[in-house]
Amino acid sequence: MKTIVVIGTAWGDEGKGKITDFLASKADIVARFQGGNNAGHTVIVDGEYHLFQLLPSGVVNQKTTNLMTNGMVIDPKGLIEELDELKNPNLKLFISNRAHVVMPYHLAIEHANELRKGKDKLATTGHGIGPTYSDKANRIGLRMDAFVGPNFKEELTKIINLKNIEADKLGIPHFNVDEIYDEYKHYAQRLRPHVIDTSIYLNEQIEKGKKVLFEGAQGVMLCIENGTYPFVTSSSPTAAAVPLYTGIAPWLLEGAVGVVKAYATREGAGPMPTLITDEDINKHFHKTKVEYEPRTGTYRRVGWLDTVILRHAKRVSGLTYLAVTVLDILSGLDELKICISYTLDGKVIDYIPADTNEYRKVKPNFITLRGWSEDISQIKSYEELPENAKIYLEKIEKYTGVKIGLFSVGPAREQTIIVEDFF
Ligand code: IMP
Repeated sequence: MKTIVVIGTAWGDEGKGKITDFLASKADIVARFQGGNNAGHTVIVDGEYHLFQLLPSGVVNQKTTNLMTNGMVIDPKGLIEELDELKNPNLKLFISNRAHVVMPYHLAIEHANELRKGKDKLATTGHGIGPTYSDKANRIGLRMDAFVGPNFKEELTKIINLKNIEADKLGIPHFNVDEIYDEYKHYAQRLRPHVIDTSIYLNEQIEKGKKVLFEGAQGVMLCIENGTYPFVTSSSPTAAAVPLYTGIAPWLLEGAVGVVKAYATREGAGPMPTLITDEDINKHFHKTKVEYEPRTGTYRRVGWLDTVILRHAKRVSGLTYLAVTVLDILSGLDELKICISYTLDGKVIDYIPADTNEYRKVKPNFITLRGWSEDISQIKSYEELPENAKIYLEKIEKYTGVKIGLFSVGPAREQTIIVEDFF
């Protein structure tokens, strides 16, 4: 395959950054196609730790061209901070002229809205993602072309006049055009050289036969269309969204790699049927710090692997191969459970109820497998896995009907093992 997308199959934090980085070493182009700095993709190369919230995970590879396409919402301040930290003089980065810009009023409005909702808040990441996508749908958004163009101040003035009406309704202070402009004009100047029509560029490169990796953020269960609405993000992180969010024909995308964490986790609010309540088992997951969330300073909720969710992801997005991550973290657990269906009001079901209140009521049906005690973080091939770990992976393939293309046993690039070479 020459054009593939890497997507999260559940609620994000599946290890997409690492898988993208691994595959990006074989790609000519890495394109991030949705979301903004609500994401946090960790990449560790040669012992060096990188956390990207906006930049495509291919930026650590010297030969890769990186794209931020029209489906993204981009906070210029955050992006410049990431660029400064990266210090890569050879970086090739193009930003879509159609991507929307996250502005300070988006953050303030989101904060006020979350406060207003009280206990019903969505527990968003607080980066202004929802308000920026809302403005896009309302046709009052600021796009990159206007941001870096000569009429930025006029555009901003028009938008801020509208935003101040919203500020009055929310009871928050007015936004000041001059203050925002004086700060943001410097960011615009800095980003201007990177802004192009990324759709034209992508189509040309695909026609030339270049290998393109599309990088999703979040996961299918956080999809605005197919996720656990309203506890979702404001974009679609599915393979189906790639053509729309990048400006290519659907048939130019050849496959989707679904990143599956070896167990389930969920950040933020919303139902999670396979949640683990046993304190000892939770302690096992917490002692590694893998589930510590630096964005919020808390541990994510942990649950058993849920194959109803994986089949949902396959149905609504399409999955060609799976990439299973953090398998090493399961070492040391006596028993492992895999959810194979739900029971809702006494009936066994194999779908995600659209109604969140119904979804809260489902009970998971598990199979139980024997665990393994060996440390597997240094293994180099599938054959070296303990027998019970192989059985665990076989069950994932069985219950999804999708082949595992690779799996990982630790955070470093070298701890990724290819089962089938597909890119
Ligand atoms: P928003 O994307 O900031 O609007 O947040 C909406 C919901 O999606 C919240 O529950 C967040 O915790 C969740 N979310 C957004 N981005 C990510 C991510 O990259 N990983 C995990 N959860 C996320």
